[in-house]
Amino acid sequence: MDNAERRAAIEAVKEKNIAGGKPLGVYIVTFGCQQNEADSERLRGLAHEMGYVDTDNPENAALILLNTCAIREHAELKTLSVIGGFKKCKENNPSLLIGVCGCMTAEGHRVDELRRRYPYVDFTLTPAGIGDLPKAILDRISGGRRRFYMDAPDTVLDPLPVARQGGHRAYVSIMFGCNNFCSYCIVPYVRDRERSRPSADVIREVKALINDGVKDITLLGQNVNSYRSDMDFPTLLARLDAIPGEYVLRFMTSHPKDASDALIDVIAHAVHVEPHFHLPLQSGSDSVLGRMNRRYTLEKYMSVVRKLRDVRPDIALSSDIIVGFPGETDEDFEDTMRALHTIRFDSVYSFIYSPRKGTPAAEMTDQIPAEVAGARFTRLLEEQADISRERNLPLVGKNVRVLSDGPSKTDPTVFSGRTDAGKLVHFKADASTVGKFITVHIDRAESFALHGTVISK
Ligand code: 5AD
Ligand code: SF4
Repeated sequence: MDNAERRAAIEAVKEKNIAGGKPLGVYIVTFGCQQNEADSERLRGLAHEMGYVDTDNPENAALILLNTCAIREHAELKTLSVIGGFKKCKENNPSLLIGVCGCMTAEGHRVDELRRRYPYVDFTLTPAGIGDLPKAILDRISGGRRRFYMDAPDTVLDPLPVARQGGHRAYVSIMFGCNNFCSYCIVPYVRDRERSRPSADVIREVKALINDGVKDITLLGQNVNSYRSDMDFPTLLARLDAIPGEYVLRFMTSHPKDASDALIDVIAHAVHVEPHFHLPLQSGSDSVLGRMNRRYTLEKYMSVVRKLRDVRPDIALSSDIIVGFPGETDEDFEDTMRALHTIRFDSVYSFIYSPRKGTPAAEMTDQIPAEVAGARFTRLLEEQADISRERNLPLVGKNVRVLSDGPSKTDPTVFSGRTDAGKLVHFKADASTVGKFITVHIDRAESFALHGTVISK
């Protein structure tokens, strides 16, 4: 669908919606990663252009969209159960449209399941096809059959409207898809090959966000280091960093094999790029890394860490680790634990390996029993919690800059925010701090959060 066709579909849906008299509600549920959050902002942007208004009650919605995740089986099962919960909404309101988008809808077996067992789902759209939302809605409200758009044209680089939800924080997708084919990962199959946005589009969008007062901008991509348009990622980052204003830049995710000296050099001299680097290690064992098709060794990974810490001693490092990968021996797991104690990450997201249909690792013979993987996972969590706490302790007694996000859910007087290094901080404050950089004196450190007192706004 080209932009003119999309525009025509938007106008046609809008006309039908307006004819009904009262505004129609859209309810969007997002699962998974930041990329999905960013995609949902585009789905919402398209829905707004078609005349839908946000509702926080699915019972009042005329359109329910689920943006799904396929990274682990648990995520898929949770999504299917949430979709099941909307059956009642459809019974109460037969004109309700339910659309399923995101990574699960690019898996043939899941689409078959949605088609057969979830008759109240009206359409699916793959991650590449979200720009077809207006067409999917128009077809269906014009009396068309249920549609499962598996092979829709690629729309990820199209200029789609964005309805941002993050206030003073914003995501900017710079590239889509992945070429790496790590042997456990479904992403290259469901998000296709790498495509990068033109640098001029990215620069224009970031400038506009800064002008609008957005303070914290995260550049997104499955592997931002392989961004390539008329410039590479380090050049783009340096160009963005040169934009004047009061804002910070983050980016994720980076692949260790592509974290180049040129990138580290930009980070060393940057004004706005935050001292935070998310660099998934996945395993500390070279033999597991080999079978994961990660294309680096632990030593190569450590050399990147050393360079980053050399140029920015204040840098916070976070990582992803998978335990229970097929064939992972006790020694392999000990290698991972040793790596964690040597590197001393500020935080780690750890996952129990989940076989994904169609990936090479799912076919490997020596799958690890759930109890063994579970025990390794628990030990990793416990030991990393101690390391994270130790990494946070030196901040006690210091004054740090924090971007205030707002009150916590449980206590309206306790606010939270993030340090430049991305660490979560709780403090007593009022609404006047929200979206501002404030100075907080750190009184106490835990593994996953710091607690402090505001000393200047
Ligand atoms: N099982 C468990 N964890 C996985 N990840 C990706 N695929 C799988 C899988 N099949 C993890 C990786 C990745 C993070 C986003 O999710 O650690 O970096
Ligand atoms: Fe998946 Fe590897 Fe691509 Fe990351 S780099 S999305 S883990 S295949």
